[in-house]
Amino acid sequence: MLSFPKDFIWGVAASAYQIEGAWNEDGRGTSIWDTFSHIPGKVLNNENGDVAADHYHRWKEDVALMSELGVKAYRFSTAWPRILPEGVERVNPKGLDFYDRLVDELLRRGIEPYICLFHWDLPQPLQDQGGWTNRETASHFAEYARVTAERLGDRVKTWFTHNEPWVAAFVGHLFGEHAPGQKDLGAAIKAMHHLLLSHGLAAEAIRAAVKGPVQIGITLNLNPVHPATNSKKDREAAERVDLFMNRIVLDPLLKGTTPIQDSALTKILTARLIQDGDLQKIRQLDLLGVNYYSRTVMKHSNSLPVVNAEQVHPVGNEYSGMWEIYPEGMHETLKMVWEYHPTCELMVTENGIPVPDGVDFDGRVRDERRIRYLRDHIAQVHRAIEDGIPVKGYFHWSLLDNFEWALGYGQRFGLVHVDWKTQKRITKDSGRWFAKVIQENGLDISR
Ligand code: FCB
Repeated sequence: MLSFPKDFIWGVAASAYQIEGAWNEDGRGTSIWDTFSHIPGKVLNNENGDVAADHYHRWKEDVALMSELGVKAYRFSTAWPRILPEGVERVNPKGLDFYDRLVDELLRRGIEPYICLFHWDLPQPLQDQGGWTNRETASHFAEYARVTAERLGDRVKTWFTHNEPWVAAFVGHLFGEHAPGQKDLGAAIKAMHHLLLSHGLAAEAIRAAVKGPVQIGITLNLNPVHPATNSKKDREAAERVDLFMNRIVLDPLLKGTTPIQDSALTKILTARLIQDGDLQKIRQLDLLGVNYYSRTVMKHSNSLPVVNAEQVHPVGNEYSGMWEIYPEGMHETLKMVWEYHPTCELMVTENGIPVPDGVDFDGRVRDERRIRYLRDHIAQVHRAIEDGIPVKGYFHWSLLDNFEWALGYGQRFGLVHVDWKTQKRITKDSGRWFAKVIQENGLDISR
């Protein structure tokens, strides 16, 4: 049995657009994900989050499911366009009421609410003014943070500003696979900086709005970048990708510097982009959330600009519907962060695997593959703790099957199965397995 520290926080995570549905109800404004997913061809099978897991109506049942699992905390995101339909100024009381009820119900069940303010659903009216490429969006975000914290901050003590700002910046503005669907390196770098700047501005706004102790966090997608071979060219390619994927977010947040200033190509951009005082503002953090799913293996190639690298998928390894399965990378990622000597707390805020789960004849969902994945990854979290890295918690992605962005509903990540026709929920075998881990506060690796 691998035992975890006494106060270890076992949780589950989710995000607004992926589960809520009710996209045009009770005064919610339009987000860039509504716009993007409604354009034919952007999401697999032209699916969208209009209904998703209908959590907006089934939130009470969903909190009851969490309570059955015994989770100590729930990390969810508030939808900016539900709270401020135009992104600025006019507050929609019904939007705030929804999260108010959710927070109360969580607390009633003894589950700590962890709010994330931005999980990619930018109000469309702000996108029309340039979105994250426009510096003003960072100030608007701080205003949204203030409004939300003023209403919920008496009960919510842990606030994440952003989920995976790198993905919002690069997958949304360079690769074009996520909303707003741009393919422009300059836009991606601008968005990256403004997202980070908005973290700092929001941190100040939340601290001013909440009385008493409050923790400000950010959640990052991090992964070790490995060279495809030991050749100098491949090793250098891996280093460049590491800079563009990991250091680009870690350096500003943990060191107050940015690697994009060193790169010849981005120098021209950053000269105007990064203003005096920005880097000090960004470096405000009490809690760093690590989302770990996989590693990245790169070889030297001209196929990707700037980094001159190309991703490879080593033969003979195990893969899921989205990524290589590489449990050791969990430990390596936590170690990578720890080597920055962070003064903030550390937590795993997402980890999970898509499995094409089906319901068996007897109504059970036997998702053995997820159980194995979780066992192997949680064991690596334990290994990190043994090595002296003080990881405070582990949040599984996700409670429910949900809308997996550009991949639609085919990729099921939940501990709870959702029937997309009836919205019926069934706790999977992995859910029961996770509940046991929580109950024992430890991992029986023989199971
Ligand atoms: C992360 C996202 C989350 C979900 C998982 C599978 O990158 O934060 O919304 O899509 O991947």
